[in-house]
Amino acid sequence: MITPQAIQSVKDAMRVEEVVGEFVSLKRKGPRYLGLCPFHNEKTPSFNVSPNLGIYKCFGCGEAGDAITFLTKHEHLSYVEAIRWLAKRYNIEVTEEEQTPEQQVEHSERESLAVVQQWALNWSVDQLWNTDEGKRIGLSYFHERGFSDATIKAFQLGYVPEQGNAFAYAAQANGFNPEILEKAGWIKRREDGTGTAWDFFAGRVTFPILGLSGQPIGFGARTLKSDKKLPKYFNSPESVLYNKSRSLYGIAQAKKSIVEQGLCYLVEGYTDVISLHQAGITNVVASSGTSLTEEQVRLIKRYAPVVTILYDGDAAGMKASLRGIDLVLKEGLNVKVVTFPEGEDPDSFAKSHSSSEVRAHLTDTAQDFLVFKAALLMADVGDDPVKKAAAIHEIVESIALVPDHVLRSLYLQQCSRMLGVNEQALVSEMNKVLRRQYRKQGPDHAATEELISPELAAPQPEVEDLGTFPQERELIRILLAYGHERITVPFVTEEREQQEEEMSVAEAMFEVLAVDDLLLDNPLYKEIYLHYRHVSNLGTSIGETYYVAHERKDWQEAAIEVLAEKYVLSHNWMDRHRIYVKRDKTDLLRALTYAINGLKLKRVTRMLTALSNDIGMAAYENVGPLMKEKIHLQKIRGQLAEIMGRPIPV
Ligand code: GTP
Ligand code: MN
Repeated sequence: MITPQAIQSVKDAMRVEEVVGEFVSLKRKGPRYLGLCPFHNEKTPSFNVSPNLGIYKCFGCGEAGDAITFLTKHEHLSYVEAIRWLAKRYNIEVTEEEQTPEQQVEHSERESLAVVQQWALNWSVDQLWNTDEGKRIGLSYFHERGFSDATIKAFQLGYVPEQGNAFAYAAQANGFNPEILEKAGWIKRREDGTGTAWDFFAGRVTFPILGLSGQPIGFGARTLKSDKKLPKYFNSPESVLYNKSRSLYGIAQAKKSIVEQGLCYLVEGYTDVISLHQAGITNVVASSGTSLTEEQVRLIKRYAPVVTILYDGDAAGMKASLRGIDLVLKEGLNVKVVTFPEGEDPDSFAKSHSSSEVRAHLTDTAQDFLVFKAALLMADVGDDPVKKAAAIHEIVESIALVPDHVLRSLYLQQCSRMLGVNEQALVSEMNKVLRRQYRKQGPDHAATEELISPELAAPQPEVEDLGTFPQERELIRILLAYGHERITVPFVTEEREQQEEEMSVAEAMFEVLAVDDLLLDNPLYKEIYLHYRHVSNLGTSIGETYYVAHERKDWQEAAIEVLAEKYVLSHNWMDRHRIYVKRDKTDLLRALTYAINGLKLKRVTRMLTALSNDIGMAAYENVGPLMKEKIHLQKIRGQLAEIMGRPIPV
């Protein structure tokens, strides 16, 4: 029994944003936090957490509650388990009475399994460090592999003696019944009628698999014998506690760093995770025991928008697993691929290289997944047109999975260049694929319209909200195409005098955006923007071709992409995203103002949406100030919209 006083102090200590933040990547937006809802699949965040109110609410699916509700729904903990979890998180002592074996039986199976796994973890770690056999065989094995003591401890690696029933004996002496030990995967029982228990992991080193909050849910156990007939790894069976397709090895240790880096590395094996950690790369997990599942991908997506898959296979093996990776695209994650030299895996590579070499390899050789796949498939096509068509079709099928249609068309452009195939041919091929998907999903499917690429769909689908991407792209376009041009900018002095000053388009843009502390959201555009600002502040004049010839391949590509449109007026883009595309440079100032106001309008609209959500969640007494803010923002939006809506003389 946990006392009511203990429950109260847990409730007093818990912070909803901290608890939810352990599982969902949250971004601060004014007085609240926003993230991708963990209860349904979404692309744009509608999951709100309000620290003031101590609650979360998803405006997409309606899930709502406080920190305890979150733990019960998300982690599937019972109320008591949630209190215990919180007590541990906040270092609050909850005194519980010792349980009798009878009470233990009454415990839910999940809870009993959790207790067994935690006990077994402690036991196996103790065997490794504190017994002769453990030290001689298990610990020295890890040392030979190059794992440091700190690493072995951080991953709570352990050892099970060879004897065959050491665990079964100790666990039963501790009061655990054989059924639960068997369900947990630690013992097996002879089928000879005696039912004698034996240790499933005997003579193996153990790798505990932890749940999100760090509790052991299962184990991998590696044999130390080189006998090829023995399975190298044994894994715990699935149970109510351990669902393989929803678990990722290393996630508990990695999640914080995944959020910080905005990137998750995915490897194949336990030892790859551990060695990379030791080399200082901590945002890494493995989909151990299964090929990557949809649930695992969603799990990663909660923490980061980018996943980089580290492949150690040969070309044939890689090709076989490409299809599996497609599902990562479907979830809207940005996927990259890193390969290793023949015969090396991340583990061995990390052993034979310095930390900085490993880090450099991961960042410098990362390739976009679709580009990687295209290159791999095209490699053995040769001159055979039938093979080539098949390869192109397979690539297009993958591109069709990307949910964002802007990204999709960028991929089509890139592949068209790589494969030497007409882009329009790829577009129509892709639309065939999209239509087929659409038919499969049936006419009721809500997202059907959006699926079809806008080029061919008629009538035009609903405009997908691209955030401020179109506005940011337009600013970058103006910067790169016209940044060095001189314009005359009017301004009002502190004495309220009208004045004019001549400066470059770039200077004008930097000044105006700096007033409101505006930066670009899109990471690539933001980098280019900041780089341009930095370099031009140093006095370098940046011409139109500066970034087109830049050594950073992604900057180069972005520059080509935006500049290619310089003389093409896209009516579509202008109407749909209120972009004013100038054909020449006669009215650069106007184009610049229009682009900046467009960005501001979008940002204000976004703030208003967030504020409306807050007002919906707020307690009665908090509504007043929020409403005031809303009216203020509405006024600004009105002004911006008015400026934007004015017909622009061309
Ligand atoms: P080391 O050989 O110790 O470096 O292990 P590893 O992690 O590099 O293993 P490997 O690359 O051979 O396999 C990758 C992953 O596949 C492992 O981490 C396991 O999760 C899984 N695996 C490998 N062998 C077996 C096996 O025999 N049985 C099961 N169930 N899983 C295995
Ligand atoms: Mn290995």
